[in-house]
Parts: sequence; C-alpha cells; structure tokens
Amino acid sequence: MTDPAYFLYHSIGQYPGKAKDMAAALADFSGIWGVPDDAQWPKVLGQREEFLALWRRLIDAPDGTLTSAENVTTALFSILGGLPKDRLRGKRVLIAADCFPSLHFLLNGVADRMGFTLHTVPIRTGEFWVRTEDILDAWGHDVGLALLTFVTSTSSHRCDLTALLAHGRDMGSLVGIDLTQGIGIIPFSLDAHPADFVISTSLKWLCGTPGAGIIQMRQDLIEQVTPELRGWFSQDNPFSWDLDAFDYAPDARRFDHGTPSVMACLGSIPALKWHASQTGLLTHNRQLTDLIIQHADDTGLRIATPRDVAQRGGSVMVQLPGHIDTQTVVQDLRSRSIHVDCRGQILRLSPGAITTQTHVDALFKALKGLV
Ligand SMILES: Cc1ncc(COP(=O)(O)O)c(C=O)c1O
Repeated sequence: MTDPAYFLYHSIGQYPGKAKDMAAALADFSGIWGVPDDAQWPKVLGQREEFLALWRRLIDAPDGTLTSAENVTTALFSILGGLPKDRLRGKRVLIAADCFPSLHFLLNGVADRMGFTLHTVPIRTGEFWVRTEDILDAWGHDVGLALLTFVTSTSSHRCDLTALLAHGRDMGSLVGIDLTQGIGIIPFSLDAHPADFVISTSLKWLCGTPGAGIIQMRQDLIEQVTPELRGWFSQDNPFSWDLDAFDYAPDARRFDHGTPSVMACLGSIPALKWHASQTGLLTHNRQLTDLIIQHADDTGLRIATPRDVAQRGGSVMVQLPGHIDTQTVVQDLRSRSIHVDCRGQILRLSPGAITTQTHVDALFKALKGLV
C-alpha cells in the first residue's frame, strides 16, 4: 500500500480519521433529516450553533458576533452590501495584488455601483508578495475600507497585522481580514488583532468541508450594518412574517438570509473539534517547512515565500524554472502518490498533520529528477 505524501493543506486539510469522522457526522444528519417527525430544525440548528461556538473559541470572538457563510466571497458580499453608504462612497478601498483573486473580482465588480475606487497595491517587480510597508504607504485618510490577507495563497506571506491595524485606526478606515490561508496553522486572536470584521472558511488547515465559511464583525459595527442580502433568518425571529415589520436581529444573525446551509457546518464539526484538541501542529509544520527550504536551496530552486518565520504562513512556495511544464511535474508527482499543485510556475507545498519528513525527502528526490 502506498503512503501518500500530502502537501495540499492550502487547498483541503486532512487529519487522521477525517473520512470516518465526517461520514459519522453526515450519517447523523441523515438520521435526523430522514425521519418523518418535526425534530429536524431544532436539532440541526443546535448543531450549527456548536459549529459557530467552535469558531468563536478559535478566534476569541465575543458571543453574537459570528455567523456562517457559504464561502469567503459571499461573506464579503454580505458585508459590503450592509455597510452604511457613506463608509465607501467617494472613498478608496485598499487591497493588495496578492489577495485572493475571487475577492478582487467581487470588489472590482461592485466598485462603480457602490461608488468607491478600488486601489490595488502592486507586487514590486521581481518579488513574490506585496510588502506591508507598501500597503502602509498607499493607505491615507481617504481609505474607507482595507481588506487584508492574513496569509497569501501564492507566497504564504503573512502580513504585519499589528502595524496594519494600528495604521488603519489612525486613518479612520474599516479593516477586514481574510483569515483563510492562516487560520488553523498560525494562531489568530481577535483580542490581539481587533479587526472590524474577519472572513474565512473551514476548508484548509482546519480540515473542514466546503460551504462552511464564517463572517465575524465587531458588535458596535454590526449594529450599524443593514445587509442587502437579507431574509427571514436575518431577523431575531425568523417566523415574524409580517411583510411590513421586517427587523434585523441585534447580532451577527443579521448576516443570515434564507434557510441556513447547515449541512456544511455539521460536516465540519469533527474537524474543528479535532483541531481544538491539537497542540503541536505549528511545531510539526515548522520542522517540515524548514526542511523544504533546505532541500529547495540544495536543489537550486528559488523560494517564493519569506524566509523569516515571522512573515510566513504554513506553506512554502517554490518557483520552478520557466522551461518546466508544471502540469507535467504535478502529474508525475501524483503518479508517485505525492500531492502538490502549481499556480503558474509556483509550486505550492503545504505540509500538515499527516505529512512527514519522509514525504518531504521523497518529494525532493522526485523533484531533482524532474527539474
Ligand atoms: C486567501 C484565500 N481567501 C479565500 C479563499 C476562498 O474563497 P472562497 O471561499 O470564496 O472560494 C481562498 C482559497 O484558496 C484563499 O486562499
């Protein structure tokens, strides 16, 4: 039997026993949902609350400030459509060029209608990530909102949240953070980094399912937002059906809209519980990422990730030479049960709980032959 070498935690996280745990959670759901009684909603909404509580504990979010979202892009859309009009109209929205493209597509698409200018801070020529100092330089009092990427998906660069949040406060801007690539491997707490809102998924280092994203917002801002994407579940009482009496819930539930997509939340609970019980994930990751950097240096491959551990997420990206067909490399490695991916010439390597030193050695032994 082969022992798969798994380096795709930036895409889908794995942990020992995940398939079995998730199957049990989804079978439990089926057992509730397929019974001809009226107990479904109380039970599954209670389980969704457990999902939200696990997330609140993970990032130190106060009660009532966090709800689920289908994905990060819809989470951002809900937030944008809820902000008071004067927060963005006539202002700049600041984002770095190495943000997740989906969020840039969204912001670009709504900029005209919402009346803001999207300012994208570029990556300097020959570099792989946007420097924190370049974001700070571009950030003036006219920035209504800055969307920060905690850890980037193309270089695993971790931005300096302390400096950026402090600057955002001085400029009077709203600051949101996309936690997706860092959460679950790099500790994050709202106590240390009090953003106006954070958005994320449970899919990557947290090892959850697709569809289980989150929105978290500070309570006093929640009270000012009126999400356009709204529905019966945005209310304190979803069963208040008087057409002239719609009223937002006082807390993060106002970001809910139609019937909540509970299955993804329930499917992610075992992974979030597993994650909450772990202590050595980052140490293990650091040992393997250091080894990857060492091997890449020995192989003569250029590292596309900061070497400084304080500026790094859980991945190491490596630039393959221009003449190499990266898809052939990915396929060849796959045929040896080594799982990686590429974005352009950038090979993305994210070792996690089920990845070992032997896997890293096997990867570079194979890569030496291929490049
Ligand atoms: C930084 C970052 N943000 C967001 C996402 C996912 O966004 P969505 O849930 O909208 O697909 C990813 C996925 O790779 C990501 O790397």
